[in-house]
Amino acid sequence: MGSQWGRDKVHIKAKSEGYRSRASYKLIEIQRRFGIIRRSDNVIDLGAAPGSWLQVIRTLTDGRVLGVDLSIIPPIDGVETIEGDLTDPQIHTRVKEMLRIVNVVVSDASPKLSGQRSYDQARAIALGEEALTFACNVLKPGGNFVVKSFQGTDFSKLFNETKQHFFSVKTYVTKATRKGSTELYIIAKNFVA
Ligand SMILES: C[S@@+](CC[C@H](N)C(=O)[O-])C[C@H]1O[C@@H](n2cnc3c(N)ncnc32)[C@H](O)[C@@H]1O
Repeated sequence: MGSQWGRDKVHIKAKSEGYRSRASYKLIEIQRRFGIIRRSDNVIDLGAAPGSWLQVIRTLTDGRVLGVDLSIIPPIDGVETIEGDLTDPQIHTRVKEMLRIVNVVVSDASPKLSGQRSYDQARAIALGEEALTFACNVLKPGGNFVVKSFQGTDFSKLFNETKQHFFSVKTYVTKATRKGSTELYIIAKNFVA
């Protein structure tokens, strides 16, 4: 999977299975391992464009599914979308008006990369902190949260902050993550406010 050929194969597999990107396999893997989404859950996906996680989430729950992204998310049957910034308090309010009960928040959001590794990691972790704030603002007690992050100097701050709000918090590197990447996911279950 780390080679160019491997990347192409996963990309081709994703397209042939109707997914918008290979990212879908990361969420499928997280769900198989941690069971974060239940059949009746209302789920919010932050940083959701182009929408492959939304496609997966739609198959996992009969509840409402809402995607938020700075970019327009091309339509998916049975999925609501908002074009907006997850760090904007007005977007938090809008989401709460749309979904009165939120059981799960997932975030695969990442900023545009500059190519400067430590700078990019710091910005990505800061966005993860914003996603945590969002989740704490909208989640129902007992809810679950998944956020993309990166190993780096600020990672433990995000991890420890997440631990203050959830009963169980773990990290997970998906098999679908490219070799050499420092990407990992924080899997937080049972929101305690
Ligand atoms: C890796 S992509 C997400 C892929 C998505 N999970 C999927 O499966 O299709 C990261 C996304 O984060 C979004 N993003 C970055 N900063 C954001 C912000 N402040 N608010 C909302 N979305 C943001 C980007 O626009 C981009 O679409």
